[in-house]
Amino acid sequence: MLFKQQALLRQKLFVLGSLAIGSLLYLVARVGSLDRLQPLCPIDGRFGPHAQDEIPLRALQFKRGLLHEFRKGNATKEQIRLHNLVQQLPKAIIIGVRKGGTRALLEMLNLHPAVVKASQEIHFFDNDENYAKGIEWYRKKMPFSYPHQITIEKSPAYFITEEVPERIYKMNSSIKLLIIVREPTTRAISDYTQVLEGKERKNKTYYKFEKLAIDPNTCEVNTKYKAVRTSIYTKHLERWLKYFPIEQFHIVDGDRLITEPLPELQLVEKFLNLPPRISQYNLYFNATRGFYCLRFNIVFNKCLAGSKGRIHPEVDTSVITKLRKFFHPFNQKFYQITGRTFNWP
Ligand code: A3P
Repeated sequence: MLFKQQALLRQKLFVLGSLAIGSLLYLVARVGSLDRLQPLCPIDGRFGPHAQDEIPLRALQFKRGLLHEFRKGNATKEQIRLHNLVQQLPKAIIIGVRKGGTRALLEMLNLHPAVVKASQEIHFFDNDENYAKGIEWYRKKMPFSYPHQITIEKSPAYFITEEVPERIYKMNSSIKLLIIVREPTTRAISDYTQVLEGKERKNKTYYKFEKLAIDPNTCEVNTKYKAVRTSIYTKHLERWLKYFPIEQFHIVDGDRLITEPLPELQLVEKFLNLPPRISQYNLYFNATRGFYCLRFNIVFNKCLAGSKGRIHPEVDTSVITKLRKFFHPFNQKFYQITGRTFNWP
């Protein structure tokens, strides 16, 4: 009798277990199919409990589903009309600084359901040939989005190019401008490392950083060297301030975005008047990469390309000291203008 009962119990447990595993597999399969335009969207939880209050659910599906198809050029005119999709001029631009972490910032902001990124650097305002093609050409370079979403693009060359502030002002005088900065000497070395890698790829030789950054005649910092000039943030910002008030800029701490991205992203959400939707769930530290990577949902995550986070060559400490001393007064001015202080040496 007891044996019979045990066998029955085992049978019941087996059926229940199979049902549980089956349901789990079904759920995983449905979430996995999000990218293939399935109407299910269980991922809204990743944006917190209020996600659906302000951001339509379809926007979340769209982020990893339809949007992907539209980007690949697979959308029909009918689909675009049906979903009321538009190519909008950017409401915010990451104008620089090169090697500040511009790609990481753009990709991380793109985690937000109300943000749609332009994948490529468009170089509309800094490239005369592109600029001559007109604003419609620029708009057509933008990704499709729902009208309630905002488009963001990044072209780091904008920050240092003379003509850009006026050109952007002419397009939209109330646009929001994001600048991501890093400790100026580290940024200059990162800039150098990128150029060096390009030369090495072409089997070309290149100067050592020390030789470029220090003028051999005067033994002073070589202000003609582009990587040095780009790191004089205040000089460039002052040009922008002739067109835009400081309130239209938000400064992102690129060094903190590397080590602790979430609080930096939350400041940007606030600046862009977006509801807080990016959470710790969306960012996970990948020990192999040595950086935070992005998690869109349980099946889709990605790290930035290997070209982000290069190993820098070792630089003579006396050169580093000289550069830091050189940048110091410019940094002070930058803190004063922006109201954001960094612990740069
Ligand atoms: P390094 O290559 O010097 O480490 P940009 O996108 O403007 O070119 O900036 C590149 C820098 O972004 C990299 O510089 C890297 O340090 C930084 N970065 C910030 N967050 C990152 C992330 N999550 N993954 C990879 N790189 C990141």
